[in-house]
Amino acid sequence: MIDEQPTLRGIHLSRTYGEGSTLTHALREVTMDLYRGQLVLLMGPSGSGKSTLLAVMSGLLKPDGGQVYVEDGTKLRDVWHMTPREREQYRLRNCGFIFQGYNLFPALTARQQLEIVLRWGGDAASKSDIRKRSEEMLSLLGLGNKGHLKPSQLSGGEKQRVALGRALIKNPKFCFADEPTSALDWSSGERVIELLRAAAHERDATILVVSHDHRILPYVDVHFHLEDGKLTEAELPLAEPVTADAWRDQS
Ligand SMILES: Nc1ncnc2c1ncn2[C@@H]1O[C@H](COP(=O)(O)OP(=O)(O)O)[C@@H](O)[C@H]1O
Ligand SMILES: [Mg+2]
Repeated sequence: MIDEQPTLRGIHLSRTYGEGSTLTHALREVTMDLYRGQLVLLMGPSGSGKSTLLAVMSGLLKPDGGQVYVEDGTKLRDVWHMTPREREQYRLRNCGFIFQGYNLFPALTARQQLEIVLRWGGDAASKSDIRKRSEEMLSLLGLGNKGHLKPSQLSGGEKQRVALGRALIKNPKFCFADEPTSALDWSSGERVIELLRAAAHERDATILVVSHDHRILPYVDVHFHLEDGKLTEAELPLAEPVTADAWRDQS
């Protein structure tokens, strides 16, 4: 299940904000390897640099020092040596994102939020195929009867599942989720983590979740801890969670 070569590798990453008396070292020489098929949790106290590391690893934020390499065929490619356009294309094709606060379009229905990704994503899919894949994703998310509703008509947990569907509908190689359960009660949060875990284990995605929610721990394959910009790999508890529902084939 786990290849020898990482799909995403961060080496000696550093990042500061501000200068002089406001200088903050958000990341200090962080080295992190992520592998295909893994659900990886990054924990740490507020302000420890978690969101910064997620943004750097996903190619959204340039580090001050260090490199981010991404698997490209049999080679690893330096994300920050790509042209801005190459990097944008790489993210569009390969990366799904879930940010705090859902970031859904207020005017679109749940189904339209998913359809728009497939329409803009460069897949030359037909209208009926786009509709079918969106419907399938909604039912996988347990939102089969809510596709016609707009964000204001959905609960927090439902909105987060739409955001998750939007991140995963293209079957991305990578998914980056920043505090995906923080605004949810645990039954909704657990469902979100189960779906992310299924995307890793059944779809071979590489998934990095940032959270300080300890309830996620039993679901993950690898657990990193960040403290004051420094990374350590932590021990995992032995307990195995109940496995997620089968990740239904959408092809
Ligand atoms: N845009 C910014 N400008 C200045 N300081 C920032 C900025 N973003 C983050 N920081 C600081 O960098 C540190 C790490 O922040 P962050 O990565 O958001 O941590 P976390 O996600 O673990 O809460 C914190 O001290 C934070 O105040
Ligand atoms: Mg954060």
